Amino acid sequence: MYLTAEQERMLNGEAGYAVQKAMEILTALGDIYGAERLIRISSVQVAGVSYHNLGDAGLEWLKQIATDGRVRVLTTLNPAGMDLENWQELGIDRQFAQKQIDVIRAYASLGVIPACTCTPYLAGNLPIRGQHIAWSESSAVIFANSVIGAYTNREGGPSALAAALTGFTPEYGLHIEANRVPDVTIEVEAKIESKADWGALGYAVGQKAPKAIVYLKGVHGGLDELKAYGAAAVTYGTKPLFYIERLHSVKPPSEKIAIEQSDLKSAYEELNDSSDVDFVGLGCPHASIGEVAEIVRHLKGRRVNKTTWLCMSRATKMLADACGYTEKLKKAGVQIACDTCMAVAPLKGRFKCMATNSAKMCFYARGHNAMACRLMSVKECIETALKRD
Ligand code: F3S
Repeated sequence: MYLTAEQERMLNGEAGYAVQKAMEILTALGDIYGAERLIRISSVQVAGVSYHNLGDAGLEWLKQIATDGRVRVLTTLNPAGMDLENWQELGIDRQFAQKQIDVIRAYASLGVIPACTCTPYLAGNLPIRGQHIAWSESSAVIFANSVIGAYTNREGGPSALAAALTGFTPEYGLHIEANRVPDVTIEVEAKIESKADWGALGYAVGQKAPKAIVYLKGVHGGLDELKAYGAAAVTYGTKPLFYIERLHSVKPPSEKIAIEQSDLKSAYEELNDSSDVDFVGLGCPHASIGEVAEIVRHLKGRRVNKTTWLCMSRATKMLADACGYTEKLKKAGVQIACDTCMAVAPLKGRFKCMATNSAKMCFYARGHNAMACRLMSVKECIETALKRD
């Protein structure tokens, strides 16, 4: 791979230990994927923040990098394993909390903004159309590529951090225009009404068009719907880029796949376990202020009888505070979980079955926290949370 003189100096250690390690990661990655050069990026989003996933080895690596590293572009963090302020109320173990705080401190000393959200675009890390970026959270990556129109591969935590420390990423995959052409048109014939339906649609598309860049026809959604769809589609198998009628002017591919009502029904069947719900988890990907308002509306001042988490970024929570939503949610017994989510927090063994409106969450809560899941609309989630068993 061709390196400029500046990049050569970085690789030789002339810009310090952290930059040298970062360059080693980027050049190795570039060689694996056949990149011809490194390109400048303008924004980074780093996953691999939860101590639950990082462990001591990851924490030690971060501390080493933090001895002389400093990020060169706007960089924010993905959710951590706990709410950084309210962890005790959410039942997080003290020992875990201390380690998680150490992880955040190490990132902060690198100049990373501890926004701790999978919706960085709602919290100030918002690239513009055509910019090259290096993001790692899959739901954010697909949103950035598809809705924002930025260019990013799905980075691992270390490669995203390496991009932040150097300001470069290898040019391959979705950074190259020719690799961004849609493969198949998805004709959506099923009725898509709730955000859970958008997630189920993502599941069905992932199953029918694995590894494809799809062009969606027959559906129209706003920010919250596309966020729900993208999170599910990439989790269940598509490439982290989609096109949708009305939003994009690309030509729909001639190969077509239909998603019928029966496909949506099968998606729900596969995403639903039969266990009784003892936990309700909302805000995956992290809730927008519009979604917070919607939940408050559905609650109608009533109080939940099951443990209910609503995840959002701290930036959204500040808006929720200002709008009086936080107070209403607290009165209703809903626990606001900032900086974290039901997948990355160490919840294993605390709950048996979660009701959620997120198809993506079904995958991760099962995998990371061994919980059964039930996919339902926000309204149904709230009604379930209100029920006394
Ligand atoms: Fe975000 Fe956690 Fe869902 S990181 S996309 S809320 S699984």
